[in-house]
Amino acid sequence: MKNPKITVTKDGPYQVSGSIPLAKEIIISDAKGIPILWKRGKKFPLQGTYNLCRCGHSKDKPFCDGSHKKSRFKGKETAPHIPHKDQVTETTTGPGLVLDDAEAFCAVALFCHRAGDAWNLTERSQDPSAKKTAIHEACDCPSGRLVARDPKTGKAFEPEFSPSIGVIENPRKKHSGPLWVKGRIRVRGANGKAYEVRNRVTLCRCGRSKNKPFCDGTHVTMKFKDGDPSVK
Ligand code: FES
Repeated sequence: MKNPKITVTKDGPYQVSGSIPLAKEIIISDAKGIPILWKRGKKFPLQGTYNLCRCGHSKDKPFCDGSHKKSRFKGKETAPHIPHKDQVTETTTGPGLVLDDAEAFCAVALFCHRAGDAWNLTERSQDPSAKKTAIHEACDCPSGRLVARDPKTGKAFEPEFSPSIGVIENPRKKHSGPLWVKGRIRVRGANGKAYEVRNRVTLCRCGRSKNKPFCDGTHVTMKFKDGDPSVK
């Protein structure tokens, strides 16, 4: 893969280049509706470059079909170009773990509640099992809102991701989610300025986030559906 990158275009789609693999990412929930697992779904044929819808109106989602023009999409980027560490609103420091929380990035995937809230588990992180679960929950957060760190070294626990993009679906809640950008892919704004390169971020594709280009969870309240049979 050569120079994988995503460019946000003014009032238009995400331009993806560098032959980045694209696949569905399905949220699997338990009987109570709590997300417990990510499952890789359908893989799209590999393309060197492609455009992904960010206005929410394409009839060919997740790809752009030009509908942003007809719908007069206003895709002004509102997210600040500042790193995650400077957007942290709460840091929980436990005996064996530190948890940084930058709420603005929240994509409401809700893996942080799987087996006890990640924040409470961090406070009890002298218990190896609580610590392990808190790390898993933080690592399953697609948007990177939550970052678990070692209290001694400060080093973040991060999942091993190679560059790829996931198209999130939540069949249990019957809505579609954002684009899950994994593996340190560079995202450049329409003004040419790059956002912090991160292992995981989520990009809005419903068109309604107030923190564009990042998802802020609005797709949940608007019940965004991309036409996938699992969320109909
Ligand atoms: S996809 Fe989450 S706010 Fe648009």
